[in-house]
Amino acid sequence: MALRLGDEAPNFTAETTEGTINFHEWLGDSWGILFSHPKDFTPVCTTELGTMAKIMDEFKKRNVKVIAISVDPLESHKGWINDINETQQCTVNYPIIADPERKVATLYDMIHPNALDNMTVRSVFIIGPDKKIKLMLTYPASTGRNFNEILRVVDSLQLTANYKVATPANWNEGEECIITPAVSDEEAAKLFPKGYRAVKPYLRYTPQPNK
Ligand code: BEZ
Repeated sequence: MALRLGDEAPNFTAETTEGTINFHEWLGDSWGILFSHPKDFTPVCTTELGTMAKIMDEFKKRNVKVIAISVDPLESHKGWINDINETQQCTVNYPIIADPERKVATLYDMIHPNALDNMTVRSVFIIGPDKKIKLMLTYPASTGRNFNEILRVVDSLQLTANYKVATPANWNEGEECIITPAVSDEEAAKLFPKGYRAVKPYLRYTPQPNK
C-alpha cells in the first residue's frame, strides 16, 4: 500500500557510498531526509546532489541527516560523485544508497512506471525523530527540486512540532505564524506572551514563538 503522512518510514538495510546502513539505526534520534534520483550521470541529478552538498551545514544545524538514493550500483555512484564534486565545486558529504534491485525504491513507491520506465522519480521524504513520515514530495525527472524549500519545510515542521502554531503561505524562518484553530483566545493569550492579532476569529497571527 502507498505510504502516507504519519506512517512509519519503512526500515531497510542497504549498501551506500559510506558503508552498509540500517536506516533506522543510522537515523538515531535525528530528523531525516531521503531523496531519490532517476539515474547516475544525469544532468539535473548532478546539480541536485551538488546543491545538497553545499547546504549540508544548514541541515546539520537543524539535526537533520540526509541520504540520497538511485537505482545504480555502488561503483557507478563512486564514479559519479567525482563528477559531481568536479562540476558543482562541492564535496558530496552524505551517503548515496545503491539500489540496483530497487528494494528501497519499491518500499518507498519511488518507481512510477507511467512516468519513467525503470528509474525512480524525484521523491523527497522528511522523517521525524519518531521515524514517522512528515512530508512527501514527488517531482518529475525533468524538474530539479528547490532545496531551499526543503529547508523551509524542515523549519516549519520543527517549529510546529513544539508550538501550537502553523505557518502561512510562503512563510520563512523569523516571520509571523498562525495560531492553530484548536487554541482558544484565552489560551492564546497565555501561550503567546508577545501577543497576537486576530484578522478573523479563525485567522490569528503571532510572532514566531521561539525567536
Ligand atoms: C536528469 O537528472 O537530468 C534526468 C534524469 C532522467 C531523465 C531526465 C533527466
